[in-house]
Order: sequence, then C-alpha cells, then structure tokens
Amino acid sequence: MRIFIGVAWPYANGPIHLGHIVGAYLPADIFARYQRMKGNEVLMVSGSDEHGTPITITAEKEGKSPREIADRYHRINSEIMEKMGISFDLFFRTSHPHHAEVVKRFFLRLMERGYLYRDKMILPYCPNCKRFLPDRYVVGTCPYCGYEKARGDQCDNCGRTLDPKDLIDPKCAICGATPEFRESEHVFFALSKLEKRILEWLTDKVYWRDNVINFTRNFVKGGLKDRAITRDIEWGVEVPLPGFEKKRIYVWFDAVIGYLSASVEWSRITGKSWRAFWIDRNTKHYYFLGKDNIPFHTIIWPAMLMGYGELNLPYNVVANEYLRFSGEKFSKSRGIGVWMPELLSMFDPDVIRFYGTVNMPEHRDSDFTWDDFVQKVNEELVDKFGNFVHRALIFTYRHFGEVPKRHSLDALDEEALEKIKVTKEKMEEYLDKVELKKAFREWMELARFGNVYFDRKAPWALLKSDRERCETALNISLHIVKALAILGAPFLPFSAEKIWKYLGYDDSIFQHTWDESLTALPEGMKLREPKVLYTKIVREEESFDRWNLLDLRIAEIKEVKEHPNADQLYILTIDLGEESRTLVAGLKNYYPANELLGKKIVVVCNLEHANFRGVESQGMLLAGEDENTVAILTPQGDVKPGTRVQASGIYSEPPPVLKFKKFKKLKMEVVDIQDSKVIGSSEYRIEYPIPEEWKGKQGVVFLDKKPLLLHVGKVLISPEKRVKRGGKIR
Ligand code: MF3
Ligand code: ZN
Repeated sequence: MRIFIGVAWPYANGPIHLGHIVGAYLPADIFARYQRMKGNEVLMVSGSDEHGTPITITAEKEGKSPREIADRYHRINSEIMEKMGISFDLFFRTSHPHHAEVVKRFFLRLMERGYLYRDKMILPYCPNCKRFLPDRYVVGTCPYCGYEKARGDQCDNCGRTLDPKDLIDPKCAICGATPEFRESEHVFFALSKLEKRILEWLTDKVYWRDNVINFTRNFVKGGLKDRAITRDIEWGVEVPLPGFEKKRIYVWFDAVIGYLSASVEWSRITGKSWRAFWIDRNTKHYYFLGKDNIPFHTIIWPAMLMGYGELNLPYNVVANEYLRFSGEKFSKSRGIGVWMPELLSMFDPDVIRFYGTVNMPEHRDSDFTWDDFVQKVNEELVDKFGNFVHRALIFTYRHFGEVPKRHSLDALDEEALEKIKVTKEKMEEYLDKVELKKAFREWMELARFGNVYFDRKAPWALLKSDRERCETALNISLHIVKALAILGAPFLPFSAEKIWKYLGYDDSIFQHTWDESLTALPEGMKLREPKVLYTKIVREEESFDRWNLLDLRIAEIKEVKEHPNADQLYILTIDLGEESRTLVAGLKNYYPANELLGKKIVVVCNLEHANFRGVESQGMLLAGEDENTVAILTPQGDVKPGTRVQASGIYSEPPPVLKFKKFKKLKMEVVDIQDSKVIGSSEYRIEYPIPEEWKGKQGVVFLDKKPLLLHVGKVLISPEKRVKRGGKIR
C-alpha cells in the first residue's frame, strides 16, 4: 500500500516550539517510520509557510524584508526538523518558484471548472496607514464566541474562519485606528457549490478522532460560504489574472496546495512518481496538524481537491490538541514555553521525542512542566528502558562477546517470547488507528517486562552454575532488546539505531521490517561494546545527585615532561586503560618528575578540555591540599587504569562533558576515617560499610546531599601524603 503523509506547514516567522513538535511533526514522523517498516511506500512532505500576513507583520516589526524573515526561519526550522529526526521526504517552501507554478495551475483549473469567480467586496481600509487590512492586520471581537482578539480570517479561540466584515468593533492591528470599509475586487472560491459533496464525503469518516469530526460537522452545519482567496497585499503568489497585479493569493489557499507542489518537487528530485500517490486510488492520505488548522484540512482543502478533480482526498486528518506550558499557552511574546533550539542544546532528540510521546495531547490539552519532564525521563526512559537494554547488552558483551545460543526454553522464556508477540500486535492495532500514546505504553510495558525477566533469570548467578540456561536467558534478553529496538524505532530512532549496532548489525535498523521483531537474533553474531544510552537528567538546583556529574577514573602516569612555557606546570601522559591522554598539572613545586612516574592517579575524564599556555589538558588530576602541601589522590591498592571510581558504592552516570564552571561548584574534601564516622571540616556519617583496613586512614568525601566516600571496590582512594583534615580537593 501507499501512504501519503502531509504535515501542516509551519509559518516561517519564528522558530518552532515543542508544542509544534508534539502536535504535528513527531506524531507524523512516528507514523511514517512505522508505515515504512511495515513495508508500505510512504511519501511525507511539509515545508515552510512563507507567505501572508504572519510573515509580513513579523518583517515590519523587525524592519526586515519578508524574504529575509522567511529565509531565516526556513533555515532554522529545517535544521530543527533534521535534528529531531523528522524524516520528511521533502521539507519544501512556499516561496519556491516551482510551488508558485503549481499554485497558479491549480488556480486556473479551478477557474476553468467554474469553482472560482471574481466579485467586489467590502474590506477594512485603514485611513491612517493608508492601506487595506487583510487577515492579521485587522483584529476585533469574534461574532461566534466573543473572543476579543479574533483576526480578519480566523478566530484563534473558537477556530472559526471569518470574514473581516464579520468582526465586531474592528481595529487596525498596526496603529489601532478604526478602519473604514472600501470596495475591492477579489477572486472567490465557490465553497457553497461543494457543500453537498463535502457532507456526503464526511458521512463515512466515523473513524476520525472525535475532536476532528465534531469540529468539522459543527462547521458545516451553518452552511458553507464562498470565500475570498485573494488579498490586497504584495507578498505571496501572484494571481494569474489581468487586473490583479497588485494582489496576491491568500496564504491558506497557497499553503495547502503545498502538499501537492512538494510532492511534484519530490518527484522531480527523485525521479519517482507523484501521481502514484495522488491519482492512484490505492493510496491513503493522512494529515497531521494542530487543532487550529482543522477546517482548512477537513473542509477547504478537500473542497479544493474536489473542485480540481481526480486527486486523492484525505483519508484521515489527525489533529492534536495543544501542549501547554505549566498550564499556560505557549507565547513567544511573553516568553512562555520551550523553544526547540534551546531544548536541542540541552537534550538528545530521543529524550525530547520520548517525553513528547508520553505527553502527547492526542485527545486533550496536556501540560509541559520541567518537573514532569525530568521525572518521566529519569524514571521511565533511563531507569526502565535504558537500564534494561544496557544491563542485557553489557553483561552478554563482557561474558560472551556474541549472541549466545538458545537451548531448551522454560516457562518464563516462553512467556517472554509471547510477550514480544502480544506487544507487537497490540502496538500495530493502536498505530494503525494513530493512537500513538497507547502504542507507546505497550512498548514501555515490554521494557518493564525485560527488567523483570532479567532479574528473575539472574544470569550472573547462572554463569557459573548452569551455563546453558545462562546462554538461553541472555539470548532471550537480547531478543527482547532487539524487539524493543524495532518496535521502538518509530519513536526513538536514534537510540534504536545505536542498539542495532551494539547487537552486532552492520546496516541501519530502518532497512529491517517491523515483523522482524519476532525473529531470533543470529546465534554467534558478534556484539559491539555497548555504551550507556541515556544518563539521568540532573537538575542544577538539586544538591543531590551531583555525583552523577563526575566521570572519575584511575589512570597511570606514563610520562612527565616540563611545560615549555610555564615553570610550574608538568605535561603528563597518562594511561586510561583503553586510551592515553595528555594532562597539564601544576605540580612542579610539590613533586619531582621521577616521583610522579608510574603513579596511579584519579582523573576527571569528562571535564571540558582546557588550554594551558598552548598545551591542551584532556582532563584533570585530583589532589588534596592544605596551606603547606599538595598531595595527589591515589588508590591504596592495585587498580587497573581506566577503572571507574565509586562513591559509597555508587557508580556515577556522568554526562559526556562537564563544564568547568559546574565542576568548580562541586565540593570534595580530605577526611580522617574513624569508622562510619569520618572527620573533615566537620563530622560526616558515611552510609556504606567501611572495611576494617580503611579505619585510621585518610579518605576523600564527595559532598552531596549525603556525604559519599570515594573508593574502587575494596580499595580506598586517599591523598598520597597526609593532608590536614578538611583539606580541599582540586
Ligand atoms: N502555517 C499554518 C499554521 O502554522 C499551517 C499551514 S498548513 C498548510 O497555522 F498545509 F496549509 F500549509
Ligand atoms: Zn471566535
């Protein structure tokens, strides 16, 4: 089957925000990726909506040309789509000359077929600004719902399309003057002629979402009125009629035709057929949009298509409600909301996609709050999904390095395979109905099951006692991982792709089908070393969990050189197990070079690299200091270079890069260990069983919500010489 997916074109007058993403682009992308993996042919298009008053008003405010504004935001928004992994076949733009050609042809054909006509109309004209006031240039009270900031073409509150003469108490949006009404000639679309056909066409749309069908029925109830589709404006697609040189086609009429023009352009670029999607009846057309766009997609565009003839009509129009920001509407002018460039600079796209899916406003408005974001990501994505996948992969990688054999299955193994099958089927059922949240919930449930399965099998215990059952348990665990990757790929494409590589595949997961979630992994396939998929979000204002900022490891000093341009600095070459790095350290006044050579040290491995007089330091070694000495930190026993440092038993889950500014805020100090009581600048109680041999020694605490003592397994981390208790670590 063929699936055409049209996604509402964002106005190129600002960067899109999270509400746009979760309202239209993300659901469309999830649906598109799913359909492709089901083996369907998909064409998904959208583009920048660059004409009309939304752009000219922004341009006037900024003192720029509409073209500059459109160029800027087309670039920014294209980049956001790309980074978010929205897999458009084409993200076009309405200012492209090829788009204008298609629009003009469409226009002329409607005219030929009797659906367009010229007529005079009465329009608001601002005597002060000396111009007609199209669409957003005039504001007033909505005659239907009483909303006071309705615009000339649509009321943002009730969603009704309007005529400017309907507005109660209209005002010029630029100067506030009351407009007078003047006559102007325009082209009208004979919507009334198509009313019966629209009604007929709507009768079998019982499978549309309630909000969409109800809004639409309500809209048609009052009768369909003919609408002007040209404007007194200079920015837009030219009207292909003599006498209309100073007018342009209405932005909405031009934008919806973008679905067609983008398909034709895609055809031109790829050599594939747009007709297969638009004329062949074996194609289903889906549209994804926010609720304010409903009438244009369920009435006006279908009517235009009917008037044109032979082109496919929408099969489903999927409109989401709004995402709010802590209970309020996103508002650029009031700075309420989360913008994509900002969000993308802080989080991986899949983290955003994850939250966007679980909080998608499918049937009612939903609310974005930072608390909810952090909680859902940490508890569901990181703890459930990320954790299971990593446990299964890393354990198998370490002990087998490949996909282990599947031997005889016990009841729990059978249950796991059944669980995968049922999850897949339920997800299909929901995805086919575009109930994305529900589908995703089934998927999360499989991740939860994976953890339970892994715990109950306890492969670490089976490893010695029953190797065959251990192999089977891991084989099945990895099969769950594979199923999670395939079934989760439409939602979390970047993570799915990574997991795919860790499982040992060389190609892209998107070259595989949805149904392959049921087939076992090839036994003996070599695994790749898995990396942790996600790390917990640490909120700055929280004093706990700061430990998760630090990637501390043991290293061995392999070479000590003097810095050519600084007399207190050494340049160290260190061995970190899998890699070697260069550090710059200010130790020359405290250690002769030969004393440092061969020493084991503690290094902050994720600290942003810094340049010290022309030499880059790729991390920083830790030392304790008081007024008199500086003593490097070192493990009190044999530890391999590269080993992670623990704090009271906890391994951190650090971000890849720690900014120096953040690092400076972390506090560590030297303590004397008595027992669970340790003494530094004050007394701390350590919640960790202190081995006998640590007592009486010096250690290092990391001051988090609770004080944490640094060590590597049974080996304590201490300053290499005595430092006063309470001495700072730097
Ligand atoms: N630019 C419009 C908006 O943001 C949506 C246009 S959808 C289109 O509300 F299909 F008509 F392009
Ligand atoms: Zn209204």
